[in-house]
Amino acid sequence: MKKHAVKDLSLAKQGQKNIEYAEMQMGALLEVRKRMQKEKPFKGLTIGLALHVTKETAALVRTLKSGGAKVAIAGCNPLSTQDDVAAALAKQGFHVFGWKGQSNKEYYENINHVLDYKPEITIDDGCDLVTLAHTHRKELLDNIIGGTEETTTGVIRLRAMEKDNILQYPVIAVNDNKTKHLFDNVYGTGQSTVDGILRATNTLIAGKTFVVCGYGDCGKGVAGRASGMLANVIVCEVDAFRALQAVMDGYRVMPIAQAAKLGDIFTTVTGNKNVIRKEHFTKMKDGAILSNSGHFDAEIEIPALKKLSKSSRQLRPSMKEYTLRNNKRIFMLADGRLVNLSAAEGHPSTVMSLSFCGQTLAAEYVLKNSLNPGVHLLPESVDDHISKLQLKTMNIKKDSLTKEQSKYLGSWKEGT
Ligand SMILES: NC(=O)c1ccc[n+]([C@@H]2O[C@H](COP(=O)([O-])OP(=O)(O)OC[C@H]3O[C@@H](n4cnc5c(N)ncnc54)[C@H](O)[C@@H]3O)[C@@H](O)[C@H]2O)c1
Repeated sequence: MKKHAVKDLSLAKQGQKNIEYAEMQMGALLEVRKRMQKEKPFKGLTIGLALHVTKETAALVRTLKSGGAKVAIAGCNPLSTQDDVAAALAKQGFHVFGWKGQSNKEYYENINHVLDYKPEITIDDGCDLVTLAHTHRKELLDNIIGGTEETTTGVIRLRAMEKDNILQYPVIAVNDNKTKHLFDNVYGTGQSTVDGILRATNTLIAGKTFVVCGYGDCGKGVAGRASGMLANVIVCEVDAFRALQAVMDGYRVMPIAQAAKLGDIFTTVTGNKNVIRKEHFTKMKDGAILSNSGHFDAEIEIPALKKLSKSSRQLRPSMKEYTLRNNKRIFMLADGRLVNLSAAEGHPSTVMSLSFCGQTLAAEYVLKNSLNPGVHLLPESVDDHISKLQLKTMNIKKDSLTKEQSKYLGSWKEGT
């Protein structure tokens, strides 16, 4: 079995420093790690992961190891691996497979290397690891006790597998933790998406028309940050309630067909495919910037953009210029892959501390409770515990109910 496959082991020194810097900001996760070190809930078990290999993920895998696990990890996106971090993890003895700029074939080969370690627990981001185990590596399924899933798109795929009676083991939808999707997706994706756009383009946001497709948790975060930087934000939505939320939050809402003509910068965060497509590219302004922060690179119809173009060139590291036959130029960031992880460093560490407390505690929960195959939620008490840990590490004290207040809230007798 392959021990590891990374770009360049000599990058390990910087990777190690980056991991240390991340851990300084991940106090809640370190609290969980302290307990795991004593209790060793994962002793004798192998945990297989497909996650973005970032400095924050390194803090997670080091926590799982402290809990007694043997860990094998691959990236969950061909462009998101931080090569220095991967090198540092390999030097620390983790089985890590991935580098920035993998081909599709290499991407799946690397996930297969993780599965070669026959994990008892899977931790996935986007459901490619689980899908591979259920299709090409079915022989491994009997050995798997349970899994956890990080993101909205992964949870959607898992629920579809459950509906089709295919999912063979229990998986905790970590994305659905309050302490995950209401922080990571909103504040994390919001900030890091704008960070990715800025690092790729160094464009001025103030005064620009910024189109956000999808007004879910991530879309709310991106729209809020863009508007905070004084862009005029337009939201495109297919869901009536969320479109209405966007209106009440003060944004213009309109179909993408209309917004295509107005936007200077576009970001898709829908989890859907071909949200910006052929008929929209031709209407765009010269110099329009396109980016995606949804899980897969299917949200912007890049094959159609290529067909409409007479030429293209890599203008800057994460910025490709397409010149259409009508002579307008369109700038595509990070080849339509998650711009926050491909052109920047992904979410800030503090927010990932919350998400990865969720991952660690969900892995422990799925191990200790015999759950039926299917998609499960982490109990609210565990989710609340994560909030308490985070407040503690921020040295913030909250109020508590008095006995009288608790009684009042549990009773129907007192009225007007
Ligand atoms: N970049 C990151 O680091 C990161 C972090 C978290 C989640 N994600 C991914 O971002 C995507 C969105 O996640 P979310 O939690 O916001 O999901 P969500 O379900 O809360 O929101 C998605 C929204 O997109 C809307 N939508 C769907 N199709 C659309 C279309 N054709 N046009 C306009 N709107 C459309 C839906 O109605 C919904 O309101 C997912 O793929 C998720 O996995 C990325």
